[in-house]
Amino acid sequence: MRLTGHAKLAGVMGWPVGHSRSPRLHGYWLEHYGIDGAYLPLAVPPEGLKAALQALPLLGFRGCNVTVPHKERAFTLVDECEPSARAVGAVNTVVVTADGRLHGSNTDGFGFLSNLDQEAPGWDQTEGPTVVLGAGGAARAVVAALAGRRKQSLVLTNRSAERAHQLVRDLGLTATVMPWAERDRLLAVAAVVVNTTSLGMVGQPPLDLDLSHLPPSAVVTDLVYAPLETPLLAAARARGARVVDGLGMLLHQARPGFEAWFGQAPAVTPALRQAVLGD
Ligand SMILES: NC(=O)c1ccc[n+]([C@@H]2O[C@H](COP(=O)([O-])OP(=O)(O)OC[C@H]3O[C@@H](n4cnc5c(N)ncnc54)[C@H](OP(=O)(O)O)[C@@H]3O)[C@@H](O)[C@H]2O)c1
Repeated sequence: MRLTGHAKLAGVMGWPVGHSRSPRLHGYWLEHYGIDGAYLPLAVPPEGLKAALQALPLLGFRGCNVTVPHKERAFTLVDECEPSARAVGAVNTVVVTADGRLHGSNTDGFGFLSNLDQEAPGWDQTEGPTVVLGAGGAARAVVAALAGRRKQSLVLTNRSAERAHQLVRDLGLTATVMPWAERDRLLAVAAVVVNTTSLGMVGQPPLDLDLSHLPPSAVVTDLVYAPLETPLLAAARARGARVVDGLGMLLHQARPGFEAWFGQAPAVTPALRQAVLGD
């Protein structure tokens, strides 16, 4: 795609930013839809975040994504926020409005739900509790989104129980917090199981979880996407459960930003997955 002087601009602010898959992801869509636009990696150190965000309208940027370690600080720096960002206390998508204001949202919950909708249709209608493992930053977005969608009971378990209690309090939810040591037992009646911990990721210990009582009708999803098929997903698949990997969440969370900046609703397709996995 050749850029013109009217090219629409967006990017991702992170520090470091070289690991981000977002330029590849948005670059694929720009090419695929033939859009006169660019999406750039923007290496912004923490002390420069405020100035960099404020510069977006001046530079003619339509907006940007915000990644580690800037998401919580960006929440305090944007002019206005969607409820999705307030629930999590973090912003991952910034859109410059027509009058030059910075509008922040958090699209992780949207990405999480959209991934399940696409890969495991009907997942939200199944009977039985949803069991969420973990209570970190990603869990906040996931739990807030789950609470807005699934009516069945929600059970949280986290190594540090207090962090799970805090999450439930902050989100004002009706949910049960169970001790981490009880996690195997919780699976016996689970309809949906979500791993939001970093366990199972390359370089991290595996998630120590016994799935021998998991109902084969369950849907199991992992936020970890490196490796794509985590030991948890492999074990769930072996029990006959429907499994959904974490890459789809990453791809789907990018959709609202792309549409706002570039004026095209993009699709998550096998070709996109392949392009993002590329290297
Ligand atoms: N697919 C996607 O689009 C997507 C989006 C966001 C995040 N993620 C992935 O989600 C994972 C979590 O990210 P995050 O931002 O929520 O991280 P985080 O805020 O650091 O939270 C980490 C979570 O993992 C738990 N944990 C870590 N080490 C553990 C251990 N040895 N034993 C038991 N629990 C342990 C923590 O428990 P404690 O509270 O007890 O420390 C906490 O619940 C990462 O792998 C990240 O890459 C994926």
